Amino acid sequence: MTLSVLLREATREQHERAESMPFVGDLVGGRLDVAAYADLQAQLHRVYTALEEAGRRVAATEVGGGMVVDSLLRVPALEADLAHLLGAGWRHEVRLLPATDRYAARLDALTRDDVGLFAAHAYTRYLGDLSGGQSIRVAVGREYGVAEEGLGFYRFREIPKPKLFKDEYRGRLDALPLDEAATEEVLAEARTAFDLNTDLFADLGGVHRPVLSPALSPVAAPRP
Ligand code: HEM
Repeated sequence: MTLSVLLREATREQHERAESMPFVGDLVGGRLDVAAYADLQAQLHRVYTALEEAGRRVAATEVGGGMVVDSLLRVPALEADLAHLLGAGWRHEVRLLPATDRYAARLDALTRDDVGLFAAHAYTRYLGDLSGGQSIRVAVGREYGVAEEGLGFYRFREIPKPKLFKDEYRGRLDALPLDEAATEEVLAEARTAFDLNTDLFADLGGVHRPVLSPALSPVAAPRP
C-alpha cells in the first residue's frame, strides 16, 4: 500500500473524532458567532506559522523540497483574514489556547531531517483544508455573513482544481523514501496531528459556547 492510502486508513477514526467535535458542529451549524470563527483563525495562525517554518527547514534538504508547495502556504491568507475580522491591531487581541501551544511546540521541534514527520502534519492540515475545510468556508460565510475578505484561508487561489492537486500531493507523499519503521512513525505522527486538532477544538469549545434555541434551552421558560 502507498503512504497516502496508509495515511487515510490510519487516521480514519481520528478524522471522525475531529470532525464530530461539538465546536465544529456548532460553528458550521450557525450556533456560534464571528468571534468564535476569528478565534479559530487566530489559533490556526500560530499553528501554520510553526508548520510553515518547519516546512522551510525541511525544504532545505533534497527529499524535503518536494513536500513544500508555495501554493499551499496559508500564513499570508490567515493574516489578511484576521486583519479583516479583528482590525489592524489583531495581534494584540489574540489569546493562544493551551492546545495551540502544544500543537505549535510539536511543530517547532521538527528538524530539517524530519521530512516524514513534517509530511504527516502537512497531509493532515493541507489536504483537510482542501477537503472538509471547504464546507467550513461555505458555512461561515452563510451563517455569520463573513465576507470573502475574511475567508481567504479556505480559498486556495493558485489551486483551481483541489481534487487534481490532492492527487498530485499524494504522489509526492508516495515518493518519500521511507522504510517500514519510518512509515510507522509517519502514521503515528499523523494520528497525533489529528489529535492535536481535536484538542484545539475542545479548547475552543470551552471558550465559545453555543447559543441554544429557546426550545432546547435547559432553563425553564417563565410561567405566564
Ligand atoms: C467540518 C469538519 C470536516 C468535514 C466535514 C470533513 C470532511 C472531509 C471529507 C468529505 C473528506 C474527503 C474528501 C475527498 O475524498 O476528496 C475529507 C478528507 C480529509 N480531511 Fe476532513 N473534514 C472535516 C474536518 C477535518 C479536520 C479537522 C481535519 C484535520 C485537521 C481533516 C483532515 C482531512 C484530511 C487529511 C483529508 C484527506 C483524506 C485523504 O484523502 O487521505 N478534516 N474531509
